[in-house]
Amino acid sequence: MCADQAAIATESADNLPAVQTISVVSGKGGDGRTTVAMNLAIAMSRLSSRVLLMDGNLSLGNIDLALNVQQQFNLSHLIGGSRSLPEIVVNGPEGVSIVPSAHGDAEMAQLSQIEHVGIINAFSSLHVPADIMFIDNDAGVSRSVLDFTHAARQVLVVVCDEPASLQNAFLTIKAINASKGTDRFRIITNKVSSSQHGLDVYSELFRMTDRYLDVLLEYCGSIPQDDMMLQANQKRTSVLEAHPGCKSARSVERLAQKIKEWPRPLEPKGQTEFFVERLVNASLNNR
Ligand SMILES: Nc1ncnc2c1ncn2[C@@H]1O[C@H](COP(=O)(O)OP(=O)(O)OP(=O)(O)O)[C@@H](O)[C@H]1O
Ligand SMILES: [Mg+2]
Repeated sequence: MCADQAAIATESADNLPAVQTISVVSGKGGDGRTTVAMNLAIAMSRLSSRVLLMDGNLSLGNIDLALNVQQQFNLSHLIGGSRSLPEIVVNGPEGVSIVPSAHGDAEMAQLSQIEHVGIINAFSSLHVPADIMFIDNDAGVSRSVLDFTHAARQVLVVVCDEPASLQNAFLTIKAINASKGTDRFRIITNKVSSSQHGLDVYSELFRMTDRYLDVLLEYCGSIPQDDMMLQANQKRTSVLEAHPGCKSARSVERLAQKIKEWPRPLEPKGQTEFFVERLVNASLNNR
C-alpha cells in the first residue's frame, strides 16, 4: 500500500452522512476549474468539512500534480479492474482526500456512459467519512462532464470575462440542462478585476441564459485575477497556504463559507448518483 494512501475507515455506510457533491464545470480550458476546485477543497477542509476531491479529467488528470501529491493508482486502474476505489484514494494536503486520474491515457477519454456509471457507483464502496466532494471536470460538455454532473448535487460553473468563456459557459449550461433537465446552476466568476466586474460578468451570463433557457442561476461570488494565485499554482499548492490573506485567498474563503451553508442532500434523486447508498440511508433516517 502506498504510504500516502488515505486511511480508509471501515465504518459501514449506514453510519455515514450524505455527501454534498459539487461538479465544477466551465465552458473552456483555462477558466480556472482546477484552481477553484482545489482551493475550495482546502478552504472547506479548514472549515472542518471532510473533503474529497475527484479528478474528472479522466485522461489528463492533474489534481495530484497541482497539489504535489504522489499517486500510485488512479481511475484507469479502477476501470481496468485491477484496483478498487479505496485503493486509489490518496491523502492530499490539509486533510483533503484525492481521487486521482490517469496521466495521458487516451482510452480514458473514450469511456462509455456505462463505464462512467461504474466509476460513479464505485463511490458506494468508499466508506470514508466525507461531507463534501468536488469533481474537477474536463472543459465543455464531453460525455464524462455530463455523466459526472448529473450524478452530482450541485453544478458550479466557473466563468471569466472572455467572449469564448461566456459563450461556452452558456452552451455548457444549455447542454447540461438539455441532457437531463438539471435547471439550477451556481456561478463563480474568476480572474476578475473587482467584485463589480465579477457581478457584471455574471449579469452578462444571466442575460444570455434568461433569454434562451429555462434555468435558475445563482451567483456565488468572484475570485480576482491575482498573481499570488498564479504563483501558488506554480509552487503546486493552494493560495491559502502559499499566500494567506491575499485577495484571492480571501475570496476563496468567502466562497467556502457560502458553500458550507448549502443544504445537504436529504434523499436520493432516483437516478445514478455519487454516494447513493448514503442518500438512501439519510432519507430512511429522516423519516
Ligand atoms: N484567479 C486567478 N488569478 C490568476 N491566475 C489564475 C486564477 N485562476 C486561475 N489562474 C491561472 O489560470 C491558469 C488556468 O487555471 P486552471 O488550470 O485552474 O484552469 P482549468 O479550467 O482547470 O484549465 P484546464 O482546461 O487546462 O483544465 C493557471 O495558470 C492558473 O494558475
Ligand atoms: Mg483543469
